[in-house]
Amino acid sequence: MPIAQALVDELKKRRETARAGAGLDKLEARRKKGVMTARDRIAELFVPGTFQEWGMHADHDCHHFGLEKKSLPCDAVVTGVGTADGRVVASFSQDFTVAGGSLGRVHAKKICDLMEYALKVGCPVVGFNDSGGARIQEGDDSLSGYGQVFFRNVLLSGVVPQIAIISGPCAGGAAYSPALMDFIIMVKGTSNMFICGPEVIQAATGQKCTMDDIGSPAAHASVSGNIHFVAENDAHAVQITRKLLSFLPSNNVMDPPHHPTPQVDLSVDPGMNDLVPATNKDPLDMYQVIARLVDNADFLEVQREWARNIVVGFARIQGIVVGIIANQPAVKAGTLDIDASDKSARFIRFCNVFNIPIVNLVDVPGFLPGVQQERGGIIRHGAKMLFAYAAATVPKITVIVRKAYGGAYLAMCSADMGADVVLAWPTAEIAVMGAEGAVKILYKREITAASDPKKKEAELVNEYRERFCSPYEAAAKSMITDVIEPSETRAAVAMALRNTLTKRETRPPKKHGTIPL
Ligand code: HXC
Repeated sequence: MPIAQALVDELKKRRETARAGAGLDKLEARRKKGVMTARDRIAELFVPGTFQEWGMHADHDCHHFGLEKKSLPCDAVVTGVGTADGRVVASFSQDFTVAGGSLGRVHAKKICDLMEYALKVGCPVVGFNDSGGARIQEGDDSLSGYGQVFFRNVLLSGVVPQIAIISGPCAGGAAYSPALMDFIIMVKGTSNMFICGPEVIQAATGQKCTMDDIGSPAAHASVSGNIHFVAENDAHAVQITRKLLSFLPSNNVMDPPHHPTPQVDLSVDPGMNDLVPATNKDPLDMYQVIARLVDNADFLEVQREWARNIVVGFARIQGIVVGIIANQPAVKAGTLDIDASDKSARFIRFCNVFNIPIVNLVDVPGFLPGVQQERGGIIRHGAKMLFAYAAATVPKITVIVRKAYGGAYLAMCSADMGADVVLAWPTAEIAVMGAEGAVKILYKREITAASDPKKKEAELVNEYRERFCSPYEAAAKSMITDVIEPSETRAAVAMALRNTLTKRETRPPKKHGTIPL
C-alpha cells in the first residue's frame, strides 16, 4: 500500500508555507530592493542541492502574549547543514520577514542545536544575522535563548571557526553573539550593529549621534575595530566567507588546507631587492613585500581599515597556508599602538588555535609614544601581543626587513619569544633602541663639547648603527638564523615553513593563561 496521498499533500503544503516565510509577496519585495531573503543567502552559500534543512516545521510557543493566533514559519530562522567550499558547513539565517527575525525560545533552540552538531562533527558555523533582537512577546524566554546561544558560541570558540554575517539590524545584546565568533562581515547599506542606538544614547547622555556614527559597517571597520570585513552586498559577503574558509581547517584538530607544491621553488625574485628604500627614513610599503612573498599576490587582509599600522591576513606561500603579521611603516611609521596590539594579538591566537603557521614581517621603530597611549593602557595592550606570540605553538617564521627596536622587536616575535626561524635582510637594524636615541643618551656631553655638535652626532649615529644595530651583530649572538638578500625571501620562507610544519611543542598543562585582556 503506498502512503496516503493526503499525507504527502499535507507535507508539501507545510513545506511551501515554511519556505514562504511571512509570504511570497514580502520575499519578493525584499528582492526588488536588492536585498536577499534568508533562504536566498543560504542558497548563495551552499553548493546547489547540498543543503539539508533542520527544523523547517518549527514554530513559536503559541502561549506568548500577542502571538496566540499567529504562526511564525520556521520560527524566523532557517537552519541546516550543507557543502560550501568543498566542506560541510552549518548555517543559520534569520528571516526578517517573520516577526522581524526576532529571537524567541524555539528560534534560539534551533541555532543551539545546529551549533552543538557543528561541535560534534567539527564543521564551521556561518550565521546570517538579520533581526530585531529579543522577541519582545516572549519576554525572558528570549533573553534566556540569547544566553544559550552565547554559551555555545564560547563552547565552539577555538574548536570550529565561527563566521557572522550581519545582513540587517543587529541590535542590543544580540550583537554579542557575532562578537563572540571569530570573524564578522557587515553588509553595506543594509546592516547596522550597536548596543545602544542614537535615541537611547541621547536620552541617557544628551549626546547626539547618527546610526552611521555608531553602528554602520564603515564605523565598525575603521573606528571601533569590531568587524573584520565590509561586503558590498549579501552575495559579496558570501564570497568573502568562502574565501576565508578556503584558508581555514574545519576544526582545531585538522590542518589548514595546505596544497604544498611538490618541491620548494628556490628561484630568487630580484624585484624584492628593488623595494628597499634608499634610506631607513623612507617608508617601505609592506603591501608590496607581501604581494611578492605570497602565491599569486593573493592576500586576504583582515581588518584592513582598522589599525592600519599593522597588516594581518591569510595567504599561501608555495601552497602552505599562513597567517601574515606585518608592520606597515607607511602608517604611523609602523609603530605598535593600542589598536595594533589588540588586532595582532587576536589574529595570532586565531592562527594558533587553528594550526595556521605565522609569518612575521618586521619593520618597527617601537611602541607609539604618547600620553593617550600610556593612559589608554599601552602596557596592557602591548602585553597581549607578547603573550599571544609566546603562547603560540604553531610554526613561527620571522623576517626582519629593517627596524626592529626595543620592546617592539620582541613583540613582533623574535627568537627569544619563540620564533622558530628568524631571517634578516642586510638592511635590518636590531637594537635596544634607534641609533639616534641611543647616541643622544650615551654621548650627550661629547656632542655638546664638540666643535661641530651636529657633525659629531651624525658620526656617532653612524658608528653606533654599524657596530650595534647590524644584523651580523645579532647573527653572531644567534639571535637570527640567517641573513638573506631580499630577493631570496620567498624561497627562504617557503623552505623554513616546510621544514617547520611538523613542529610539535608541548607546554605545561593548565586551564588557560591569564592574558592581560
Ligand atoms: C518582536 C519584532 C521585533 C522584536 C521587530 N519586530 N523587532 N517583533 N520582537 N524585537 C517586528 C515588528 O513588530 C514588525 O512586525 C516587524 O518585525 C518588522 O519591524 P519594523 O519595525 O516594521 O521594521 P523596520 O522599520 O525595518 O525596523 C526594524 C528594527 C525595528 C530597527 C529592527 O523593528 C526595531 O527597532 N525593533 C526593536 C529592536 C529592539 O529594541 N530590540 C531589542 C529587544 S531587547 P509586523 O507584524 O508589524 O510586521 C534585546 C535584548 C537582548 O534584544 C539581550 C540579549 C542579551
